[in-house]
Amino acid sequence: MKNPLILAAAACCLLAGCTAAPAPGALNDPRVDELMKKMTLEEKVGQLVLFTSDWSVTGPTMRQGYMDDIRAGRCGNIFNAYTAEYTRKLQEIAVNETRLGIPLLFGYDVIHGFRTIFPINLGMSASWDGQAIEESARIAAREAAAAGLHWTYSPMCDICVEPRWGRISEGSGEDPYLGSVISAAMTRGYQGTDLSDPATILACVKHFAAYGAPQAGRDYNTVDMSERWFREFYLPPYKAAVDAGALSVMASFNELDGVPATANSFLLKDILRGEWGFKGFVVSDYTGINEMVCHGTAADEAEAGMQAINAGMDMDMQSAAYFNYLKEQVESGKVSMKTLDESVRRVLNVKAALGLFDDPYKYCSPELEASETLTDGNKAFARKFASDCMVLLSNDGVLPLQKGEKIAVIGALAASKDDLLGSWRGAGEVRSVPASILDAICELNGPANVLYAEGCKETGEDRSGFGAALAVARRASKVVLVIGEDCQWTGEAASRSDIRIPGVQSELLGKLAALGKPVAVVLLNGRPLDLSAEVEQAGAILEAWYPGTMGGFAVADVLFGDVNPGGKLSVTFPRNLGQVPVYHYAKNTGRPYVHPEAKYESRYLDVPNEPLFAFGHGLSYTRFDYSDVRLSASSFGGDGNITAECTVTNSGGRAGSETVQLYIRDLVGSVTRPVKQLKGFKKIYLEPGQSQTVSFTIDAETLSFYRRDMSYGPESGDFKVFIGGASDDVREASFRYEE
Ligand code: NOJ
Repeated sequence: MKNPLILAAAACCLLAGCTAAPAPGALNDPRVDELMKKMTLEEKVGQLVLFTSDWSVTGPTMRQGYMDDIRAGRCGNIFNAYTAEYTRKLQEIAVNETRLGIPLLFGYDVIHGFRTIFPINLGMSASWDGQAIEESARIAAREAAAAGLHWTYSPMCDICVEPRWGRISEGSGEDPYLGSVISAAMTRGYQGTDLSDPATILACVKHFAAYGAPQAGRDYNTVDMSERWFREFYLPPYKAAVDAGALSVMASFNELDGVPATANSFLLKDILRGEWGFKGFVVSDYTGINEMVCHGTAADEAEAGMQAINAGMDMDMQSAAYFNYLKEQVESGKVSMKTLDESVRRVLNVKAALGLFDDPYKYCSPELEASETLTDGNKAFARKFASDCMVLLSNDGVLPLQKGEKIAVIGALAASKDDLLGSWRGAGEVRSVPASILDAICELNGPANVLYAEGCKETGEDRSGFGAALAVARRASKVVLVIGEDCQWTGEAASRSDIRIPGVQSELLGKLAALGKPVAVVLLNGRPLDLSAEVEQAGAILEAWYPGTMGGFAVADVLFGDVNPGGKLSVTFPRNLGQVPVYHYAKNTGRPYVHPEAKYESRYLDVPNEPLFAFGHGLSYTRFDYSDVRLSASSFGGDGNITAECTVTNSGGRAGSETVQLYIRDLVGSVTRPVKQLKGFKKIYLEPGQSQTVSFTIDAETLSFYRRDMSYGPESGDFKVFIGGASDDVREASFRYEE
């Protein structure tokens, strides 16, 4: 059967001499109205159904028979299916074998790369480099689109101050400002300026909202907080992605204020569509609709589905609640036809914006798939980007290594290619990883200068490899110990109640350090860890995250100083789990801890208040000196502004990058304000001896917040401004603002 939709569109063009597709972003394609007139109730429901294929399992249940459902016009969207060949096969069913030939939408979790894998998102955010992050999303989009995909479930915009939560690895850390810069950059990278361009894909803002705040850090657990804190701290990155043009949003699994996000009209209607003017569609998370029965807000799946669609949930991922019950609910009047039509229209308009009504196969090109995937350019970018995401947490001078010196490389993770890819690796494959960290060190240093022993695994109590590890360490001048977490210990459903390095890895570090050899630790992990013990024993700690396809080389580049590390933490590393949550955006309290011996001040008896590594921290192989902060004026008012600037000098011996950070404190507000709030940053690159003045504009927007009456804006008063290379290493100045 020929596709009547495509024919109708072509005819319309010929007759009217029109351009078939509306301007991108218009989202009122006339073809959608025409189509809606022809659709049966069952076909409309089908456009709101999203099922997984049998290619990949990303959730608890799997429905069989998706091809029959597509053929019957009862499933309009598929995820977890890719390659040009396979998506074409499924698309042909939709286009040629259904009555109206409406093309399928193909979604997938392209989270930190598709075939070429970049560092996990927490690592990416440590680059503080919006342009590079945008470029990584652009490459991911090109590779994914060439494999037939239209839609990625990214960016994940969940702010998180909870290291126990495994999914902290998928986000951009703890700060709303930095998170907003990154979520907007990723959205632009995926969607480009024209969604119908076959090199772009649809972004999906997730997990709306506050999924990153589960009680006790246990995945899927209850979330509850004040509306003020929610709006101020958690919402901004989602909004930034919507403002950047994202046309889909995924609701989160969690409840908020007692209502599951999946059927939370305050989130989906009042905030998303009402306040933000979002025009795209909302999808549930995987079986999120049926889970409302377990949440206890719906008696059965039918009721859950009805609650969801009435609250503004357009598409049902994998629950089959819409598939099974929605038609009958519309017929019986429990769900209005208007509600159904609005959701269908939103989905179809996004399909139109993607260009699928012009050419449903535009994303299924085996030629493009071959030419765009894992190109030399993509891999070169991935290598450099991965090294720029690494954070040098500590260094007594053991790093950089000298090429040609005898290096003992120890640790199971050193030889692992698999772990380099991290979790949510999309279609990234181990066979595409050219080198483990060990392989890359051998290549850069010459195999004859490298000794290897596994020492121990990442988990378990087996110490039988300690002897061999100590033996190779004795024969080397320096030790590189690669330790951390198995990559499957991070990501979804991977919460931990202990944030120390697992197994006997730290014990091995202690034994190596006791030899008196300089030890550089390379960490592969996806969350802030308690490194209190390791900091005492290691000469240097390089946080490499899970660095992706080219991660082995990227680590070696940094170890040998071919790349000078410039990453800065986007999340605080606590001294122990008891400090959690500990983050830079904290309030002062009524009893701040200022007197060393005081009892009745806000402090711990057994550990300092300060974290082990503060937000924004990251060392370099060179040294950056900051001048005092200079202000253009000591006050400003209304819509005016002032500039705050600092001169930064590279006073060390190597070229390198530095991320200059701006923080603000509002000293007296109608509600309490954080002691340090990130309000800007600039990444600069300086040759040895070079200086650069970095300036920031401060205006009313910089000072705005949700005031006591929940209106948003600035308040008159005194402010402090801080500029520095880390949240705990700043220079300060003061100014006054008058409304
Ligand atoms: C569940 C995860 O929470 C979500 O992030 C992901 O996009 C979906 N599964 C689909 O795999």
